[in-house]
Amino acid sequence: MSRLNLTGKVAIITGGASGIGKSIATALAKEGVSLTIADIDAEAARGTVQQLEQVNPAATYIPIETNVTDAASVAAMVEGTLEQFGKINILVNNAGINVPRLLVDPAGKEELDEATFDKITAVNQKGIFLCSQAVAREMISRGEGGVIVNMASEAGLEGSEGQSAYAGTKGAIYAYTRSWAKELGKYDIRVVGCAPAILEATPLRSVDYEQALAYTRGITVEGLHESYEEVAVPLGRVGRLDEVADLVCFLASDMASYITGTVVNISGGKSRG
Ligand SMILES: NC(=O)c1ccc[n+]([C@@H]2O[C@H](COP(=O)([O-])OP(=O)(O)OC[C@H]3O[C@@H](n4cnc5c(N)ncnc54)[C@H](O)[C@@H]3O)[C@@H](O)[C@H]2O)c1
Repeated sequence: MSRLNLTGKVAIITGGASGIGKSIATALAKEGVSLTIADIDAEAARGTVQQLEQVNPAATYIPIETNVTDAASVAAMVEGTLEQFGKINILVNNAGINVPRLLVDPAGKEELDEATFDKITAVNQKGIFLCSQAVAREMISRGEGGVIVNMASEAGLEGSEGQSAYAGTKGAIYAYTRSWAKELGKYDIRVVGCAPAILEATPLRSVDYEQALAYTRGITVEGLHESYEEVAVPLGRVGRLDEVADLVCFLASDMASYITGTVVNISGGKSRG
């Protein structure tokens, strides 16, 4: 038996239909965890579930169309999961968006406006509040503890040129993780986070995203790609999604039973934004 002891557990992964979330889903499925893939993209969530059924047919997977910024939608995510599985052991708050903008753009092209600020904050910050509250209520009433894993980013501590609104929401995740760990420890609910830096590309790194980020840094998209390679990563390479997924499996498992209130950096040693 794996020392992770995850077999038979139930997890919700927000944003589980793409990129890091899908990689986490795959790793947890291999450990025998049954999953709710909660994503705003219903079709992608259904596709992910079909793939997970091939990865490990012994566990059960359901897609639930969820908008983490909407309390009613989050309530339906929790209800649908309980209806199917009867319990929730793990919540992975992974859904997140990033829209690069400058605080001030004298050219008026890519300046941070209120609507963009509100949109990023709604998904990355309000979303983890709504999901954590709804799931923690359920974990407390069941009385068997649980684990909440929050997806931060190295940018949350280091800041990031052209991505201040995003970095702000990720910095807040450190504070939520520490605060909720203090509040929920007495219920045996651990709250942890992980903070990746530069990873292999996911759909988050869209054409629009890269064009805007390159603009905010005064370089071309090609220059941006070169900067990913040139940036000082002591391990000399970008991170793989499955490496982040392995960290989440560990943090969610009994092997991490005394770890709470902390965000683990997974950056290959990179420590400057
Ligand atoms: N990719 C990286 O290099 C990197 C680095 C550090 C942190 N992160 C964080 O990891 C997380 C996942 O990033 P990714 O690169 O896999 O992105 P991604 O775009 O590939 O996946 C994000 C998923 O979230 C879903 N989503 C978006 N808005 C939603 C909403 N309102 N409700 C529910 N689901 C929603 C999307 O449909 C998508 O499936 C994010 O929180 C991101 O900030 C990513």
